[in-house]
Amino acid sequence: MIKIPQKLRHYEVYVPGKPLEEAQRELGLDKIIKLASNENPIGASPLAIKAIGKWVEKVYLYPDSGSYYLSSRLSSLMGIPTEQILVGPGSAVIAKWIAAALVEEGDEAITSEKTFLIYKIAMQETPGKLIRVPAKDYGYDLGRILAEITPRTKLIFIANPNNPTGTHLKDGEFREFLRRVPEHVLVVYDEAYREYVDTEDHPKGEELLREFPNLVALRTFSKIYGLAGMRVGYALFGEREVREAVWKVVPPFSVTLLAQKAAEAALDDEEFVKKSVEVNRRGKEYLYRELERLGLKFLPTQGNFIFVIPSLNARNVVEKLFRRGIIVRHTKAFDAPEGFRVTIGTEEQNREFIKNLEEILGSQSSNSH
Ligand SMILES: Cc1ncc(COP(=O)(O)O)c(C=O)c1O
Repeated sequence: MIKIPQKLRHYEVYVPGKPLEEAQRELGLDKIIKLASNENPIGASPLAIKAIGKWVEKVYLYPDSGSYYLSSRLSSLMGIPTEQILVGPGSAVIAKWIAAALVEEGDEAITSEKTFLIYKIAMQETPGKLIRVPAKDYGYDLGRILAEITPRTKLIFIANPNNPTGTHLKDGEFREFLRRVPEHVLVVYDEAYREYVDTEDHPKGEELLREFPNLVALRTFSKIYGLAGMRVGYALFGEREVREAVWKVVPPFSVTLLAQKAAEAALDDEEFVKKSVEVNRRGKEYLYRELERLGLKFLPTQGNFIFVIPSLNARNVVEKLFRRGIIVRHTKAFDAPEGFRVTIGTEEQNREFIKNLEEILGSQSSNSH
């Protein structure tokens, strides 16, 4: 009998949703609208799709383990040497690698409550401890984070914009924070939703790390480029020594050939990025307007999703939407059981979401009379 380690009892495990086709069959619906995972509602970059077709016959070969061409392309785009770039099968996996490589017994990491779950999952496989400070107005409380720093602190995880709340840290306040973070602490700065930010006042990872070498910026191809299913993201390290250390825990051939080629092509697809940003901008305006009309509380967002706080039980609303074939994410697991997160969809998806939400809220409030 294999002895299963005790520590696994307390592990938080990512629970995948049912495959879409399965949910659709069970619900007996013709279509399902998935607004639960912040994917790109208009699909994948056409240039990426073309590249996948072009390279598919080469899948009998192992991919280049160092993602040479993609790293070189990123290097010239960002003005960062390839020795400071690490490509991985999604930025969430890179966050795990960073923790696995750097966190030792007695070390601590700090993040916020009401943020991306992967930071917790990344830390639980290390001998270190994660401190989660309470959120301020549903966003990062940088003052509280600074107050928690000790000589034991190794990592600080920050998502900007934040998932699931869509809150955003501005350039000035974030730089001020970084000035106060001691050099022995690595700031893991997760910019998964960077391309959706609609203010000039965004602290850009590739610029910050010139001034603050104790920073690593995480980026992904899963969101704006529509390549969530390919699994590819990257990290820009302020210091090549830190990148080298993390590389030591990276399994060989982690990023598939098709993922590398799709990502390379997607970087050239300016038209698709522009279109995706525009669809998001219009969708956001529409949803703001409609949520206000329905009298619902929500947070302004800098991402491709909106955090909504219904006055009625959020789980109930999410459940009812699901039965109507509209999947949104209840945010209980993100320490926010009072709300749900809806991905900004296409015009039609947004309309369907609002229509169904309105009907559900109408019937719930008339039931309560
Ligand atoms: C803040 C944040 N970082 C990273 C990711 C994951 O990106 P990837 O698909 O590159 O692992 C997500 C996805 O939801 C996210 O919300």
